[in-house]
Amino acid sequence: MTTPPASRAAELREMLNFHIYRYHVLNSPVITDGEYDALYHELVRLEEEHPELVTPDSPTMRVGGQARDDLPKVRHVATVLSLQNAFSDDDVRAWRERIGKLLPSTVQLDYVVEPKFDGLSIALTYENGIFVQGATRGDGVIGEDVTPNLRTIRHLPLRIPVDPDGPPAPPRLVVRGEIYFELSIFEALNRRRVEADEAPFINPRNAASGALRQLNPRITAERPLSLTCYTILDGDGDLPRTQWDALHYLQGLGFPVMVDLCAYYDDPEEMITYLHTWEKRRKTLDFDIDGLVIKVNDRRVMADLGVAGKDPRGSIAFKFPAEERTTKLLDVAFNVGRTGVLTPNAVLEPVMVSGVTVKQATLHNFDYIAEKDIRVGDTVIVKRSGEVIPYVVGPVADLRDGSEHPISPPATCPVCNTAITQQPGEVAVYCSNTACPERLVRSIEYFVSQGAMDIEGLGERIVRQLVTARLIRDVADLYFLTADQLLGLEGFAQKKVDNLLTAIDASRSRPLPRVLASMGIKGVGSTIAELLTSHYPSMDLLEQASQDDLQTIEGLGPQISGAVVAFFADAGNRALIDKLKQGGVKMEAVGKARASDKLAGLTFVLTGTLPTMTREEAGELIELHGGKTLGSVSKKTGYVLAGEAAGSKLDKARELGIPVIDEAGLRKLIE
Ligand code: IVH
Repeated sequence: MTTPPASRAAELREMLNFHIYRYHVLNSPVITDGEYDALYHELVRLEEEHPELVTPDSPTMRVGGQARDDLPKVRHVATVLSLQNAFSDDDVRAWRERIGKLLPSTVQLDYVVEPKFDGLSIALTYENGIFVQGATRGDGVIGEDVTPNLRTIRHLPLRIPVDPDGPPAPPRLVVRGEIYFELSIFEALNRRRVEADEAPFINPRNAASGALRQLNPRITAERPLSLTCYTILDGDGDLPRTQWDALHYLQGLGFPVMVDLCAYYDDPEEMITYLHTWEKRRKTLDFDIDGLVIKVNDRRVMADLGVAGKDPRGSIAFKFPAEERTTKLLDVAFNVGRTGVLTPNAVLEPVMVSGVTVKQATLHNFDYIAEKDIRVGDTVIVKRSGEVIPYVVGPVADLRDGSEHPISPPATCPVCNTAITQQPGEVAVYCSNTACPERLVRSIEYFVSQGAMDIEGLGERIVRQLVTARLIRDVADLYFLTADQLLGLEGFAQKKVDNLLTAIDASRSRPLPRVLASMGIKGVGSTIAELLTSHYPSMDLLEQASQDDLQTIEGLGPQISGAVVAFFADAGNRALIDKLKQGGVKMEAVGKARASDKLAGLTFVLTGTLPTMTREEAGELIELHGGKTLGSVSKKTGYVLAGEAAGSKLDKARELGIPVIDEAGLRKLIE
């Protein structure tokens, strides 16, 4: 007897969510990646065949859903409070005395000390164990609904308890936690942004905010955020009475909780000694903390103490001294990026900031300079947090003597002297010379980088050497380099030449999504490139797509589709693609050459079980003949291809009057 699909789906969901938890939260998987993939694909297949079985806690929901125009607002059930600050031991002692006076003398206070995570506060609501909503703090009363984005975070349990042997879930539970970037991931993200000529994020916190508040959850899914939970905000049922128990209770339900970094104290002076051990310890963490949070352990006492303004009286943040120093802003230098954007950099009188000598710091952009009124000659505050690029926080205006002068964009490019331009409504100023040698160096660096064409051994130094020697004037020239040309360069012996040419040759057969991502179209990174090429399996097909066509792709908004269309509308870009083709770069997805154009311009939605082929095979057949497949039925759908036990898509097709065909009907169309 086979298991009914509904029970099998439930079983798969539970197993998969448990294994995700073992892997991401406990760091101790009990099955191999291959076994996991097999279970996951079984669930994907089952849900495709029975769309009615998809539930909000399905792990398949973690890939992100539809993009939106704005984030819906939500009202929090309980005000999401903030914290008062303490900067010294005496501040902590004074706090303890203050609250002591508000409580009956019989109350014996004890405390929990936790890291103060420097991320984004969120509230997660669970109803009968199912994750139903996640919201940002907002102003504490109204936040933004970021549920689909949060679902992409693997540490977040979609259903509790994650371990079937865990404590039962209460009917309703609202958990507070923090979304953050691990520093190593943040640095990699910023490196990629710099390569893509996008402005790097100022710090992990800003980056986390940007990733979480995305309108397109797929972009959130591309940026692996982390989650840690630390408090029960609200709930029904039998909930723990102390904060210490709450931490363990949440952990038992399967939430990521950093219990090992939390401590319990009943002696305030011992606790104060402990606070200082963190000044060193914080540097061992792979995430930023900006202090410690001290909480009264008894949740009832905490509630009784009430709120002063927006801050609960029963807890306090012990803040570490900020890693900021002041120094003189000597000059401003301008870096030219791949797209020609000029970014201003502060040239500083060298200063030590948390153990590192800082001579340069970013000024972000000209709006930032204007907003902060930063001038050359100013004494400025420089901040360096974690391993992040130091930045100028702002001037100390009181120290001005009148000799300072405002910073304005240069009139010409510092590299090629071409006049600088600025698009109306845009902050950025550009070098408009597409042949600017610096732009060329940056775009080649981007083209050959790991996420793109991945040409090993082609670092910045060699790229500069090739550009200076005029051996390459665009990225396509790489594919026409000869051994003789390279042997003529300084430092190039036969072996190095062979290695470089082999690496270039290997890149000729990079998969189409990579080739597309290496074009540097705004917003088109690896995930979007995959998405685009799954609908348009060759560069030629993509070139012909209109913005309307592109917008029918789920997960693609007007901005990116506009950028793609604009890219192909440019004759220079089309010529570059042709030249790359001539150089031997593959511009088609493998195995997806066209057999005919019989289905060109037609979109199909597939549902149900077909008699002789799987839906994937049917999809490939359609693409082979120039058609496209889409996930959902709309007015624009050409045909719905329906098999046995077709689901809601068939109903939708009937409702909209879309022609429905079967497998035989499809074969007729392409005969
Ligand atoms: S408790 C009701 N615990 O700090 C008390 N907050 O400056 C407030 N934060 O907005 C929340 N780590 O986002 C608490 N272990 C921790 C925390 C923490 C970071 C954040 C939280 C809050 C901000 C207040």
